[in-house]
Amino acid sequence: MKTAITELFGIQHPIIQGGMHYVGFAEMAAAVSNAGGLGIITGLTQRTPELLAREIARCRDMTDKPFGVNLTFLPSFTAPPYPEYIAAIREGGVKAVETAGRSPEQYMPALKAAGIKVIHKCTSVRHSLKAEKIGCDAVSVDGFECGGHPGEDDIPNMILLPRAAEELTIPFVASGGMADARSLVAALAMGAAGMNMGTRFVATVEAPVHPNVKKALVEANELDTRLVMRALRNTERVLKNKGVDELLEIERDRGAALKIEDIHDKVAGVYPKVMIDGDMDAGAWSCGMVVGLIHDIPTVKELIDRIMAEAEQIIRQRLTGFLDGTLETRPARAVA
Ligand SMILES: Cc1cc2nc3c(=O)[nH]c(=O)nc-3n(C[C@H](O)[C@H](O)[C@H](O)COP(=O)(O)O)c2cc1C
Repeated sequence: MKTAITELFGIQHPIIQGGMHYVGFAEMAAAVSNAGGLGIITGLTQRTPELLAREIARCRDMTDKPFGVNLTFLPSFTAPPYPEYIAAIREGGVKAVETAGRSPEQYMPALKAAGIKVIHKCTSVRHSLKAEKIGCDAVSVDGFECGGHPGEDDIPNMILLPRAAEELTIPFVASGGMADARSLVAALAMGAAGMNMGTRFVATVEAPVHPNVKKALVEANELDTRLVMRALRNTERVLKNKGVDELLEIERDRGAALKIEDIHDKVAGVYPKVMIDGDMDAGAWSCGMVVGLIHDIPTVKELIDRIMAEAEQIIRQRLTGFLDGTLETRPARAVA
């Protein structure tokens, strides 16, 4: 399949693995890139630019295909040394960066000077237009369903994607709620040139996380995510667990007066406990509603091959069948 996104990043399939804290290590990114998608190393999981440089080198040892790095611009008092992270990306020869969080505007000259393609993750049409204006090459349009930070507008992808298509001239991928061939075909129908997946990629053989995490994803359903930190205007969609229940209790008690200090131990330092130690009740970690569509733990290649094969089947048989008048009574089937 050829789309503006496969052409932009020089990849075989229009599938991107979004940056994921404590998941997006070299093993994850290389597995996705080797399977024909665009794997992404999560920049800030590496505590220093030097460590990121090492992670990029490790990924390069595992794949000769293009891969990218995620740079998340956090609202924090002590900003990470972003220029040094960008230098590590440039010197590592990485040609794709996924930016997220705050606008990457001040870093665009450095990224563009290094010949890096920038895809900015946006949860609204207005932010997508801003990304286009400041020179981003593409946008990852992240709907309300998404794992992680859906913003504060609460617009699901069924509306957000066609709205993005109405306004944008640069290509975009659909992000949030994407799991399988049906997601990909629907995203393409709504104007996207591919899809970005987060949660789905965590439940794969190669995802370098504790087996408890993968098991929890297979066992959970679409009702099991919660929104936290709404009162702080830093909303995050996470998987429900004991720590999250306690967090929500505190949020209910404090109401609009909630301060980050009130919930600090339930949202900070949680990722290593969950992803490395497998402590599933530690607190808030990102997970999308798409968890309801995750029923197995395939290899990344099996997952991507299945998506591409079934997408072709949906387009050639189911959709063309409607036009040809061949009666199709079965719904597009569930993943294997
Ligand atoms: C465990 C996990 C950690 C994540 N960490 C980050 C992150 O550090 N930076 C970022 O930009 N997005 C992060 N995300 C969001 C993903 O990149 C992606 O946008 C999102 O998962 C898409 O929604 P989906 O989970 O429904 O596929 C994370 C998502 C998950 C599931």
